[in-house]
Amino acid sequence: MELTVAVTGASGTIYAYRTLQLLAESGAVKTINLVMSSVVPIVAQVELGVNLRTPDVKTINEWLGLKKDSKLIRFWKLENFAAKPSSGSTKQAGMIIVPCSMGTLGAIASGAGTNLIHRAADVALKEGRKLVLVPRETPFNAIHLKNMLTLSKAGATILPASPGFYHRPKTIEQLVDHLCYRILDQFDIPHTDKTQWTGNEINKSE
Ligand SMILES: Cc1cc2nc3c(=O)[nH]c(=O)nc-3n(C[C@H](O)[C@H](O)[C@H](O)COP(=O)(O)O)c2cc1C
Repeated sequence: MELTVAVTGASGTIYAYRTLQLLAESGAVKTINLVMSSVVPIVAQVELGVNLRTPDVKTINEWLGLKKDSKLIRFWKLENFAAKPSSGSTKQAGMIIVPCSMGTLGAIASGAGTNLIHRAADVALKEGRKLVLVPRETPFNAIHLKNMLTLSKAGATILPASPGFYHRPKTIEQLVDHLCYRILDQFDIPHTDKTQWTGNEINKSE
């Protein structure tokens, strides 16, 4: 399977980090076309203390703990409209935007593609491919909500960065992974630590 993963400047770079690692671990994805917005290095520095100032495949592989010569990630520059995910003729399973800022959400909803992330999302929608958006903001204003509805109607899956607690997470990593597993589930990509709900016999009166 080939996928495009975009990372934008919303809070929650850790969701991108773990999603990419889990995709790599799954063995189900042959190629990840990775694009990052220009704000990601700032957020990554603030939230994770990671230096992604001049991102390239080498830096990204190092960051994710992948082998130096790993061919999994193809890194595309944000302004490269000639990149592979820019064209509908490229066969792909779909695209994930994690985390997705309100800025990127609005740009895609309006159809005004000014960078590769917007263009690739537009392509995913026009080709009827899966587009999973992981928006992060709180609270949402009416513009954010309207944009999400517009995108949902256009075929995107809105998967907010709001992890569940029913698996009783003890660490931030467990909380983050719960959300990332839900992203992988969208593409039926296997993951080792199952957190799918299997049912509970507790009755309301107990
Ligand atoms: C540390 C930090 C955290 C941010 N968190 C959010 C957020 O959670 N949601 C959001 O929509 N924007 C957030 N922003 C603002 C976006 O980065 C900004 O709107 C930017 O224009 C988004 O551009 P992009 O979509 O191209 O990444 C944050 C910015 C910084 C520096």
